[in-house]
Amino acid sequence: MNKTVLITGATSGLGYEFVKMFAADGYDLVLVARNKLKMEEIKSHYSNSKVTVIEKDLSNQYAAKEVFEEVKAAGITINTLVNNAGFGLMGKFDELQISKQSEMIQLNITALTELTYYFLPEMRNSSNAARILNVASTAAFQPGPLMAVYYATKAYVLSFSEALAEELTDTNVTVTTLCPGATKTNFASVANVEKTKMFSGAMSSQEVAEEGYRALLSGKRVVITGSTNKLGAYAAKFLPRSLAAKIAKYVAKEA
Ligand SMILES: NC(=O)c1ccc[n+]([C@@H]2O[C@H](COP(=O)([O-])OP(=O)(O)OC[C@H]3O[C@@H](n4cnc5c(N)ncnc54)[C@H](OP(=O)(O)O)[C@@H]3O)[C@@H](O)[C@H]2O)c1
Repeated sequence: MNKTVLITGATSGLGYEFVKMFAADGYDLVLVARNKLKMEEIKSHYSNSKVTVIEKDLSNQYAAKEVFEEVKAAGITINTLVNNAGFGLMGKFDELQISKQSEMIQLNITALTELTYYFLPEMRNSSNAARILNVASTAAFQPGPLMAVYYATKAYVLSFSEALAEELTDTNVTVTTLCPGATKTNFASVANVEKTKMFSGAMSSQEVAEEGYRALLSGKRVVITGSTNKLGAYAAKFLPRSLAAKIAKYVAKEA
């Protein structure tokens, strides 16, 4: 039976690393992002896999449903869903454009939730193992002043995914949440955080994706990448939230 993975944000960074790993393991691929040219270029490298390209801005209101309908119209069944697309923004909440912050909520939260909702029934009905990987962040573990909405979106992703994993106990579907810390991708330039203290020790996108991939295949519920990030997330559990917020504000400043 063919294994097919749908990966959002497949054109760069972690998403592109996942494309390489799933293709190497013989999966057929459904790539979702805005940059069609880049996805067609990626497709041209994988003649051994069936690759379907879906050009979609997932920050649009009905995008997730449209993706689901396009996948169904193509007769494709998804066994693995990787909700990876997302972005952040650095700045004071009241000084950033509200339209950009709403776009972030739509992409990081709504699209991820709705894609999971639409694809879950067929994944549950499958007689084979099915897997969901939701990309959160170490931002999920504390409030994040100067990136307030971004941190909150990732707290949602972690909470939602852990709850869903528990709901799906004893089914064929596992839900894994990947919580990377700073990672070398286009994220930092999009979010305008390249010069911050938090990005001084960024991990490579390959290392992070490999940890996420291993966790996904083993059905692990939550994976925090890298030992420093694991320690930070662990410490955040024991600190008062107000102090954790002060530390997050400090690392958001220029190095
Ligand atoms: N890098 C880090 O330090 C870091 C740390 C923790 C968590 N994360 C999370 O990791 C995930 C992947 O990010 P990355 O680091 O790999 O960043 P990236 O290199 O900027 O990749 C983001 C991907 O998302 C896609 N995307 C962005 N906006 C989209 C939209 N409106 N509709 C559809 N696709 C969209 C982009 O493709 P197009 O431009 O072609 O649409 C791109 O493929 C995100 O959820 C991010 O929050 C990253």
